[in-house]
Amino acid sequence: MTTHVLEFADVHYTYPGAAQPALNGVTMAVPAGRRCALLGRNGCGKSTLFLHANGIFRPHKGQVLWKGVPISSRRADLQALKRNVGLVFQDPEQQLIAATVAEDVSYGLCNLHLPEAEIREKVRRTLEAFGLSEWADTPVHHLSLGQKRRVALAGVMVMEPELLLLDEPTSYLDPWQTEAFVRQLERIHAVGTTIVMATHDLDFAYAWADWVFVMDAGRLVLAGEPERVFARRDILEVLQFKRPAVLELWESLPGHVKERLGPGLPKTTGELAERLRLL
Ligand SMILES: Nc1ncnc2c1ncn2[C@@H]1O[C@H](COP(=O)(O)OP(=O)(O)OP(=O)(O)O)[C@@H](O)[C@H]1O
Ligand SMILES: [Mg+2]
Repeated sequence: MTTHVLEFADVHYTYPGAAQPALNGVTMAVPAGRRCALLGRNGCGKSTLFLHANGIFRPHKGQVLWKGVPISSRRADLQALKRNVGLVFQDPEQQLIAATVAEDVSYGLCNLHLPEAEIREKVRRTLEAFGLSEWADTPVHHLSLGQKRRVALAGVMVMEPELLLLDEPTSYLDPWQTEAFVRQLERIHAVGTTIVMATHDLDFAYAWADWVFVMDAGRLVLAGEPERVFARRDILEVLQFKRPAVLELWESLPGHVKERLGPGLPKTTGELAERLRLL
């Protein structure tokens, strides 16, 4: 049986003064241990959903559940949710608050009132793991956007959350940083962290994720294994979604070639090229 870490049950939310709801009855369950991609057009509610997932926003209607238990508005419940669910904001400028990199990464731990020696050791290990040791005393405002992203991720991961929510994390990263970031995610996932990443990069989502959510107009419209979700041309076309390039290429190949390329769909154009080369 699949267990779910976080669930949204018919969650509604409208921003003050807005004419339309940002979340309009979203129901969605995040399976434990998965790498999930959250897809959807600009303004469909992805960031708003994330803000509900770690208790920053409270639903106007509906419920958020952590491991099957509804989150109440009690302080202790919300604090537990914040500990278990780490959110890396779409805009790192909103996330980083302290003066230096090390201070920023230690901020959440200081709020937990842990012993100072324990905080120092956790921060040291995290800075090392994220390749940030040499930046420890650098003022945050001296960093580039991509570097700020890494600091924001380090500041969330130091809290060892069970569920990591990433809001378009690769948007300011160059291709090398994106690759390094994906390797970091592999390590984070390998220790049992469930990950949900909002992204507009469909090729990346198809190659990386093992579970895909598609939102539209404040609701969930599709969820499942990437192959199954991207096979739903009917729904994706209505949403004007492009399909991953590798799937388009695969489908353009004649049947007898596909048969010789071995079982299973390729995940990337690189993998498809390699299979073709080996023919
Ligand atoms: N602070 C705000 N005040 C009023 N309306 C807001 C606010 N933030 C977002 N909205 C509205 O809520 C809806 C959902 O926005 P949200 O930021 O959650 O979308 P998103 O899916 O994350 O989009 P994007 O892909 O552009 O990041 C949009 O219609 C947006 O205009
Ligand atoms: Mg967003």
